[in-house]
Amino acid sequence: MVLEIALIPGDGVGPEVVAAAADVLAAISARFGHTVTSTTNLMGGAALRAGKPALPPETLANCKAAKATLMGAVGDPAFDHLPSKERPEGGLLALRKGLGVYANLRPTRIWPGLEGAAPLKAEIAKGADLLIVRELTGGLYFGEPRQIDREKGEAFNTMRYSVMEITRIAHVAFRAARTRRKLVTSVDKANVLETSQLWRAVVTDVAKEYPDVTLNHMYVDSCAMALVTHPARFDVVLTENLFGDILSDEAAVIAGSIGLLPSASLGDGPGLYEPVHGSAPDIAGQDKANPLGTIASLSMLLRHSFGLDAEADVIDGAIGASLAAGDRTADLIGTTPSIGCREMGRRVAARVAG
Ligand code: IPM
Ligand code: MG
Repeated sequence: MVLEIALIPGDGVGPEVVAAAADVLAAISARFGHTVTSTTNLMGGAALRAGKPALPPETLANCKAAKATLMGAVGDPAFDHLPSKERPEGGLLALRKGLGVYANLRPTRIWPGLEGAAPLKAEIAKGADLLIVRELTGGLYFGEPRQIDREKGEAFNTMRYSVMEITRIAHVAFRAARTRRKLVTSVDKANVLETSQLWRAVVTDVAKEYPDVTLNHMYVDSCAMALVTHPARFDVVLTENLFGDILSDEAAVIAGSIGLLPSASLGDGPGLYEPVHGSAPDIAGQDKANPLGTIASLSMLLRHSFGLDAEADVIDGAIGASLAAGDRTADLIGTTPSIGCREMGRRVAARVAG
């Protein structure tokens, strides 16, 4: 198969983790006889530094032309003074919107061997294996009108959801639940917000088409607590954009490090795959980052955008084998000495090569 992939190294540790994932991509394509045709693209601070907008038009065009995009991270404190839309993060949001990837899948689980490494007590984290399905192209992130008026001393954003937007993301969650433990927890703030009241009504409606799946509703504050007190109770967590942003960082605590978490952003066209972590400017360029979140995102890319389940299973197996063998980047508290980003990538790639 020809794998047409757009790469966006991005900012901070992004280039390092994408390079490690590229090693794994080379190994998996050699093993299974695939040909990779890739483009490497600028976005975020890297684009701004090159005198381009945070999402250069050619980057969006290449991502649309490819079947999937693998991204490292965006975010660069040097551009914190810019208005939201012009900042590196604005480029990422424009890319998500431009690709129409409304469904963000963020799985969290405990890798064998890392049970003791997480901040949560092992008996609390035991058995946790959940999937956050985050709505990605609506809500407060994109709602209009929005404004900051320094003179007036006032700012506002708009949280807006349509029945269509809620319906399509709910279907993604229920379909995912069917391949898992058949439980959807829909998270909202329906005791306060009208958007959440609509959200709850629409999700309840969609659930009627999935009688084999159990639906629970939970308020976001109570969910935030339950995620770290009873993480194993969750299967699929369905929620809107901002709640999903917050809860997915929290869920990273269950796994032990945010550096482990992958994500897939899907719509009706090409997909976008990125680790959940940010650009981590404090450790950029030091070969300290954990590339496993990006490598696991590559696995999701092969599975969701190309239907290559066997290849994805090999990569997931190699990640698991590396962790079980004691390979640890600095973010994973372990008893074994830590290795760098490049070496972790090499070891997973070598396992993938077989
Ligand atoms: C994430 C990030 C982004 C978001 C930022 C970088 C815009 O935090 O992917 O979770 O808020 O969606
Ligand atoms: Mg986030």
